[in-house]
This record gives sequence, structure tokens and C-alpha cells, in this order.
Amino acid sequence: MTNRRFKRCVVVGLGLMGGSFAAAVRARRCAEQVVGCTLKAEDIAMALQLELIDQGFVELASALADADLVVIATPVAAIESIFKTIALHTALLDSAVIITDLASVKEQIIDWAEQWIPRLHYVPGHPIVGSERAGVLAANAHLYEHQQVVLVHRSEPAGIEASVQEVEALWQSLGANTLWMSAAAHDRTFALTSHLPHLLAYSLVDSLAGDPAQHDIFRFAASGFRDFTRIAASDPIMWRDIFFSNKTNILAALDEFSAGLTTLRTALVAQDHETMLGILTRSQVARQYFQAVLEQRSFTSFKQLQEYGPMNQPCHFLVQPGGQCVGEIQIPGDKSISHRAIMFGAIAQGTTRITGFLEGEDALATLQSFRDMGVVIEGPSAGEVVVHGVGMQGLKAPKGDLYVGNSGTTIRLLPGILVGQHFKVRLVGDATIMRRPMARVAKPLTQMGAQIHISAAGTPPVEIEPSPQPLQAINYTMPIVSAQVKSALLLAGLYSHGTTCITEIGPARDHTERMLQAFGVQINCDKGSIRVAGQQQLQASNIEVPADISSAAFFLVAGCIAPQGNLKLPNIGVNPTRTGVLDILRLMGADITLSNQRMIGGEPVADLEVRASELQGIAIPEALVPLAIDEFPALFIAAACAQGITKLTGAAELRVKESDRIAAMASGLQTLGIDAQAQPDGIIIQGKGGYSSGAIFNGGEIETFGDHRIAMAFALTGLRSSANVLVRDVAHVATSFPKFLALAQRVGLNIR
Ligand code: S3P
Repeated sequence: MTNRRFKRCVVVGLGLMGGSFAAAVRARRCAEQVVGCTLKAEDIAMALQLELIDQGFVELASALADADLVVIATPVAAIESIFKTIALHTALLDSAVIITDLASVKEQIIDWAEQWIPRLHYVPGHPIVGSERAGVLAANAHLYEHQQVVLVHRSEPAGIEASVQEVEALWQSLGANTLWMSAAAHDRTFALTSHLPHLLAYSLVDSLAGDPAQHDIFRFAASGFRDFTRIAASDPIMWRDIFFSNKTNILAALDEFSAGLTTLRTALVAQDHETMLGILTRSQVARQYFQAVLEQRSFTSFKQLQEYGPMNQPCHFLVQPGGQCVGEIQIPGDKSISHRAIMFGAIAQGTTRITGFLEGEDALATLQSFRDMGVVIEGPSAGEVVVHGVGMQGLKAPKGDLYVGNSGTTIRLLPGILVGQHFKVRLVGDATIMRRPMARVAKPLTQMGAQIHISAAGTPPVEIEPSPQPLQAINYTMPIVSAQVKSALLLAGLYSHGTTCITEIGPARDHTERMLQAFGVQINCDKGSIRVAGQQQLQASNIEVPADISSAAFFLVAGCIAPQGNLKLPNIGVNPTRTGVLDILRLMGADITLSNQRMIGGEPVADLEVRASELQGIAIPEALVPLAIDEFPALFIAAACAQGITKLTGAAELRVKESDRIAAMASGLQTLGIDAQAQPDGIIIQGKGGYSSGAIFNGGEIETFGDHRIAMAFALTGLRSSANVLVRDVAHVATSFPKFLALAQRVGLNIR
């Protein structure tokens, strides 16, 4: 990007924003000369005294002579006449002059520019900073450092692109971060996030201060009043101009707000606790989400990427050689069960209490989707969630798309519920979700009479419309083993007429069947066929979520491959449709014991203990593949740390998980010096020896392809590596196991 040093920068308007801009340009020497222009002679004198500017004028025409940068920092209403003056004196300006501004509305100003200075290079800008302090005395050369500046692209006049780049480079030299928006999106966004809150703050203070009898209350104004109304101390002229210039967008925002206020008022009058709690919990979560956006945490990265371009710093694991795996840790709640508890609780009658809920981003995406459809959900707080069920037909149309983040289970199961609703809805997710196959769900749902549309490539977005005819039960033999497909069809079956019968060609996890029974649904499972009659209601239930065996799997493998590994993992879900990882590791010779076996809420649970083991390579029985489908990344690390060859077949499904897990693992293992050959439906791994064989992995850099389980699998390699392993881009670990790093460090893995 070009970094032009301007000759003569003219700042029109020397308030907080203009004065600070002049001071920053001068301090960073971005222009040879900084000239200020304002109608108030005393402000010029002050700006000169504060050394914000080199020269000052009250008359714009004199200031403009030879200017190659004009920055307009006045209230919006003055800008049209400034453009007119510039138009009259164009001959005075440098031929390469750029004009920019700092105003918080853009469409109106672009219209004026097109009318008065169509051939000059006007680059619309808006630094998102402000303060209730105003005037030249408040100017500060550091005001824009680390702040966001919105720039608006223009395609006219010819050659403007270079000027746009120069303005961007200038802001960056002042220490600001730049981002791009269309003028319309800018004005809509700021109507909601800035203009409306200012309007409300002014109005609240006015309605209280307007009544002299109430003046006394200001003496007692607590922090709520102070926090809410801080911005009402801002410059009234500036805000009057902004309100009128962005009138249409602000009126739309105000109408929406008034409707919300009416709902709140009605709830208050009617003592409607549920509506009130719904508004408060949704808004609390939205406020936290907004905080996450500001802190640039991972769940938001995709939305942020779409809206603002890349701002996140990628985060990596630095996995260092050595370490150990000893002690006892509590693995967080099961992801599959957490999703289902929210979904079933939401469409049940009554209040469902969940404990042990996994506060990972995938399950939170499900939770948020139901909040977006009007379900009141309290928490999560320390794994506790309370879902106020709305019944089978009680969901409401969300205001926008349902965003499922990275969660495959959300986007595959939700359609089973949504096809039975009376509203249109669209499901979208992050970049990896938008590549995942959806035809497996869409096809059979269509056969039931559902209106469900996916892309021509068979991927999201998923659009669902209310079906004109009632859904019909289906007799369906699933072509693949998939709990997600099975679950979607069983849920749709509940909304259908007749009895739905699903036949499996292999055993997929059966949490849906078990939990639906806990919610009072009659469901019949017999020799691989599941039958459910339609038109049944769910009754609220209390769900205790066991610890996730898929998360435990990383620590089971760590315990096996670590010299002197010895780890206890209490309260792990050991549903027989999920324990393939235990069977496979034991076939390889792992020393894993189960104790204290018991049932919790219809799910078997046990305490597990694992010790360092001399693993042997095996041919993995294909029958175990669906029972360990999520655990193969970890198992491949175990295979590398075994004597002899491990061969996996019948696992083509791994190629369409969060990433192509066969390709991702084969390439990562090869990087670390392991002979791993990807096969169309599996992998062949030449193991380098059990825990007594010392270091077997070289150092190297691993790509995770945005897949949480690839990241966690390679995080284990330090236990047996001879050099550092850098596992790149691990933010997605938070989708299933946000505490992974902390727990790994606690048992002694060397990961930073
Ligand atoms: C899941 C089912 C499995 C699994 C996924 C969770 C579920 O997917 O891989 O992580 O909760 O139903 P498939 O149904 O595609 O096998």
C-alpha cells in the first residue's frame, strides 16, 4: 500500500475529532504542513498554542490553497456548504487532492459529493471513536490509536482507488485499524449501534430532567443511570445533524425499539414472568456475544470475517517434547447429549433442567438457535441450563438466519424439528459447515413431504418452508450409518402422520432414542429398526449429561503413549454405541479399566483408568468403525505409537467430517516422520513402537484444517516427540472441548 506524505493537510473543524486528527498527523509527520480551519478565531489560537496545527484560517478558501489533503471534521449539516466552497475553489487545490471526512453518516454526504465535487477524489471515512468531551481542548494525538475506522468504497470518479488506498494507509499510520462497508450498511449499522442509543440517552435524561420536581433524583442517580446516560453529555449540534441526516434508518430502529418496549410493558402489566425472563436472558447473551466480538474470540470469527474482513490473530499450540500424563481430571459434558437436551427440552411441555451441559461452542450454537426461535433458556452457568419448553409447535420464526457455527449436529438434527413448524427458516454456519453434505438429511425428509432446499452441491445453506400437506411417516433404510440422520428422521417422525420406521445398516449412537424415552415418547427399538408413532408430545425431563467419551479419548490415548502414564477419568459416558475407542485401544493392548458402572438418566456411565501400555498395531474390525467414528484422529496417534502396522478400512465417512480426517491425519503424521498411507476408506499406519520406545515423532508444523479433533490429536505428540510440534490454527478446539488446553497442562502435557 502506498504511504504518501502529504504536503498540506487541511483539517476543517477543530473540535475533538478534527483537533485530534490534526495533532496525530502532525505528531506522526504524515504531512509537511497541517493547517486548521474553523469559524472560531479563538479555537485557531488555542490549536496553535497547543501545537495541534502549523497554521490556521477562519476562511476556508484561504486555507485550501495548495492543499493535497482536506479532512472534514465538522458537524454533518455544514458539509454540503464546505463541498460548495471547495467546488468554487478547485483551481486553488493541488491537482492530486484527496478529500475525506470523519462523519458518522455516509449516504447523505456521498450524495452531496456527487452533486458538488463529482470529479474530486472524495473518500468517505468514519472513525468509530467519540467522547462526550468536545472542543479543541479535548484534542488528543493518540485518540485514533487501536481504534476502528470504517472506510466506504467508491468506484467513481475514475482513478479513485489509489486515493482510497492512500487514505487507508494514512489511518494505519495514525495507529488505527481500517475496515470496509458499503454506505448503506454503514448507515443502517450505526443507526442501530450508535445513533439510536444516543437518541435514547438524550430522551431519558430529558424526560427526567424536564420535570424540576425530579431534579433531586440526580443526586441519587446510581451507576445504572450514569452508565446509560453518559453519552447524553455529547455535542448537541453534532447529534442533531446526525439524527436528521440518517433519519430513515433511525426511524426504522426506533420503531423496532418501540415495539420491543411495548412487549416489555405488556409483560410487566400482565406479570408475565416468562416473557420478561426471555427478554432478559436473550439480551444478556447478546451482550456477552457482543463482548466476545470485541474480544475477538473464536466463535465469532466467521461472522466477523464476513462483516469486517480478517481481524483475528490465529492461535496455535506449541507442543514441546516430554511431559507426562498422570492424575485425575473431570472431562466436560457429552456434546451429542448436550445438543439433544436443549432441542428436546425446547419442544417439550414444561421446564427441563440440565446439569453437566457442555459449554462448548457447538452446543452453545444449538442453544442460541432455540433462543433465536423464542425459547426462554436460563444459563448455562457451571453446566446448568434451564429450558422453558414451548411444546412441539411453540417455536417462533427467528428474525434472521439460524447460525450454527461449526456444529454438524445442529445443522443435521434441527431440520427434523423445523420441517414441522409453520415458518420459513434458513440454516447457515461457518466455512467448514458450508461444505458439509446435507443431502443425507434433505432427501428422506423430502420423501416425508418436507419442503427443504440445499445447494446444488448438496451443502448448506439449508432452507426450510412450511409443508403445504401434513408430513407423512416414512419407512426408511439408511444407506449410511449416521446418528444425525437417524435423529433428524425420528424427530420429523414425531411431526408426521403414521409410524416412522428407520432401519440401520450398522449401530449409530442411540442418544436420541434413549432421551426421547426420558421425555415420555413411546419408541420401539428392535434389531436395528426404530419405530416411532407421529403426533406424540414431549414432557419436560431433568437431564444429567455424562462426561464425553470423545473428549476423554484424547486423554485415554495420552495415558497409553506417555511413559509412566496413569490417569483417572471419572463419570465418562460408556453407552455401547460410543465405546469403540475402548474396544480398539484394548485390542491394541491398552491397559484401561472401568469401575463404578452405573446408569444416569438412561445412559451408562463409568469411571475409567488408563495406564501406559505397549500398544500393538491391529487391523481395526470394521464393525467397530461407527462406534468410534469421532475418535480416529486420537486413535491414529495411538497407532503411530504402536509396534507394527495398524490398518483401518470401511471408514470413508471420515473424509466428510469437520475436515477430511484421513487426509489431514495422514499428512500430519507424515510431517512428523510417520509412514501413514491414506486409503480411499481408511489408512495404513506403520507404528514406531510402544511407550518404552522413546521419541518417535519428529518436530514439524501441522495444519488442522479448522478441525478441533485434528488439533487435539496432534497436541498429544509432544509426549513422544524429539522436537517442537507447532499445531496451527486451533481455535476450533473450543467447539467441543474449551477446557482441553488447561486439562492437558494439568496432567502434564507440555503445550503452550
Ligand atoms: C453425532 C453423530 C456422528 C458424530 C458427530 C455427532 C451426533 O455423526 O460423528 O460428531 O451427535 O449425532 P454422523 O451422524 O454423521 O455419523
